[in-house]
Amino acid sequence: MDVCTQVDELRQHIRAWRKHESRIALVPTMGNLHAGHLQLVRHARAIADRVVVSIFVNPMQFGAGEDCESYPLTMDLDKAALMDADADLLFAPNVHTMYPDGTRHTTVVAVPGLNSLLEGEHRPSHMNGVSTVVAKLFGMVQPDIAAFGEKDYQQLLLIRRLVQDLCLPIEIDAVETVREADGLAMSSRNHYLQPQERAIAPELYRQLCRVRAQVEGGEAGFAALEAAASAALVAAGFRPDYVSIRRAADLGEPGVGDSSLRVLAAAWLGGARLIDNIGISIS
Ligand code: PAF
Repeated sequence: MDVCTQVDELRQHIRAWRKHESRIALVPTMGNLHAGHLQLVRHARAIADRVVVSIFVNPMQFGAGEDCESYPLTMDLDKAALMDADADLLFAPNVHTMYPDGTRHTTVVAVPGLNSLLEGEHRPSHMNGVSTVVAKLFGMVQPDIAAFGEKDYQQLLLIRRLVQDLCLPIEIDAVETVREADGLAMSSRNHYLQPQERAIAPELYRQLCRVRAQVEGGEAGFAALEAAASAALVAAGFRPDYVSIRRAADLGEPGVGDSSLRVLAAAWLGGARLIDNIGISIS
């Protein structure tokens, strides 16, 4: 696996591969790779000729007081994992390469609507930070395909919308959330959980499953289901930001006849903010 930090070097690789008409996949990450990320790499490996993985902790998607400075950096372990997963190239730029004039003096890519609901209500600048950095990575790598995890479902829809609105010829592939044996969605932020909190953490997924079972069983009072799940999370020791049943296609409020839904939740447990979501199908 090659490693590069500069856009010129990255483009040399891309140009050489393009001469052979290789299909190129990008897996954007912030590093501290776990089995969820490696599943994205495996997916990319299976459908593309060349796999580029980026590692960049993007300051623009962190708000004031969030964990940008303390975000876990495990570059050596990440490189070893990517070599094992047979990635072709690791692109690991620094902040100056990504934002030569700083994050305040850069073009901002904003996806209206999807940038302001749910996560956007609790982390106001987060989604614009994500869409901006992903647009930049797309411009640098110019991949044919990019893979994103369903765990960050709102992010996945945001990127799909970005690609559609900017007419970028990039296929966005969704990869299912990878979970620990007890159901907790894999996340770099799970490292912030103390042992006692780690034992409680799977309750988030259990509540989502409970909501799904109730909706699929015919319960139509969504607000009451959301409130009950939030209360159960509080009782377990969480501080929920939201539990919300939304339309799967665009995260709008579900209406009569919407059959493909998603229940999404974000909740603090100690110093970790956990997010998760699952699909709901009404027949
Ligand atoms: O999901 C992430 O790790 C990040 O939001 C992403 C897509 C790499 C952008 O920084």
